[in-house]
Amino acid sequence: MLSRRAFLRQAGRVGTGALLTTGVGGGAAGWWTASSSAALTGNELVDGFLPSPPVVPFEAVFRTPPVLAPTRVEADADYYEMTMRPAVVEILPGRSTTIWGFNGQFPGPTIKARRGRRVVIRQTNQLPDAKPAVHLHGGHVEARFDGYPTDVIPFGASREYVYPNRQLAASLSYHDHEMHRTAPNVYMGLVGAYLLEDEEEAALNLPSGDFDVPLIIQDRAFGVDGSLRYTPGMDGMYGDVILVNGVAQPRFGVANRKYRLRIYNASNARGYELTLSSGQPFVQIATDGGLLPTPVPRTTIPLQPFERVEVIVDFSSVEVGSPVILQNGLATGRTAAIMRFDVERQEEDRSSVPSVLRPLERLEEEAATVTRDFTLGMAMGGERMTWVINDQAFDHARVDATPRLGDTEIWRFTNRSGPHPHPMHIHLDMFQILDRNGAPPSPAEVGWKDTVAVGPDETVRVIVRFTDYPGRYMFHCHNLEHEDHAMMGQFDVTP
Ligand code: C2O
Ligand code: CU
Ligand code: CU
Repeated sequence: MLSRRAFLRQAGRVGTGALLTTGVGGGAAGWWTASSSAALTGNELVDGFLPSPPVVPFEAVFRTPPVLAPTRVEADADYYEMTMRPAVVEILPGRSTTIWGFNGQFPGPTIKARRGRRVVIRQTNQLPDAKPAVHLHGGHVEARFDGYPTDVIPFGASREYVYPNRQLAASLSYHDHEMHRTAPNVYMGLVGAYLLEDEEEAALNLPSGDFDVPLIIQDRAFGVDGSLRYTPGMDGMYGDVILVNGVAQPRFGVANRKYRLRIYNASNARGYELTLSSGQPFVQIATDGGLLPTPVPRTTIPLQPFERVEVIVDFSSVEVGSPVILQNGLATGRTAAIMRFDVERQEEDRSSVPSVLRPLERLEEEAATVTRDFTLGMAMGGERMTWVINDQAFDHARVDATPRLGDTEIWRFTNRSGPHPHPMHIHLDMFQILDRNGAPPSPAEVGWKDTVAVGPDETVRVIVRFTDYPGRYMFHCHNLEHEDHAMMGQFDVTP
């Protein structure tokens, strides 16, 4: 097993200055030195590194993470236990990779939750080199269960998280949120899917069972020995191997029928523009916060870190025996192909995609009592740089906003950081997009979101209502290296 120090030594650019702070509270500055690293192309590794060992695309077989069984079931609650621990797994054929996983799995096991039924997860930390704080991304939960970055679980200790699931059905995820170390911890594997379902959705007759699958997309870099290599540049960590559900560029043998794909961008920094090689459209049915009002056909879907979309892909128009490749239009070379669907059998399809999915309760602009401005930027101090909000790096002693419980607010994010997009994420409550540079959101973004891409020079206004739980919550860029260094703020919901 690799100690954290050895991992960082192996991962870092020893002697060339790409340093990662290693102490909790180790400060936001100093993780990346401007003089030490060539600029990222945005798609490939920082130069100076050997590429990962080659992967034969579409050779490995697609799989979905196992669904975790509860340890105890009560009338209105399901209890789970997970242990975060190092494990050695085979990601590249014939090579061993040490990961840090929930139950030693990469990605973690899937939790299936039901709206109105409480989920209680007891998390135990058996990672000698991490002190995780577990966060339910998109979850509407009490502050003490939200994985505040200093509410960490020491080695050998456990912590219980209570998720009420009093919110709409959606594809959520759980992941580590340790202060200044979320990026390397998630990179090592501390992330999993949390699927919240409800009766309204089940009544829609969408593809289900084997035809409803998560695609957790991540990029990673590997050394020749198979070890994960963590070598972030100023814009974050870009790997040159694309994984889906922990498998490198898998092939998925499918029937010639409709599938529901729950697509997670669980990459640290990489953005995607998803397309299908067949040219056919995805029919998008959901976004971060679950079902859209109506299905939206799209041939290209941009997806920044920790945004999710759910799509229906209908393989019935594809001839049996033909492949369909899921591609990333933003990448070239070995990262351009994500996975391949091989349409290999006929099957009856009784599922349907109704033209009305879920009515949207719109938050009205007039209901907002406050507008807050958050300008996203970079700050240089000497030769060091950090990512900042309103010129400030995260400081856990500073509160950046104090919404009142029950109030509706407009948050305006303005990107003034040059060519870098920032997927901005707000904890506690889902929001709706009011406009981008003054224009109303596209039909695919009309719905509940918890993470919104704020592109270069863009101004995005979102509207959010703070409900049910007072206390301190985070908001931050979900490029994980930006988040750690230190494009993050906190709001304190006051009763
Ligand atoms: Cu997905 Cu604050 O996190
Ligand atoms: Cu979150
Ligand atoms: Cu960012």
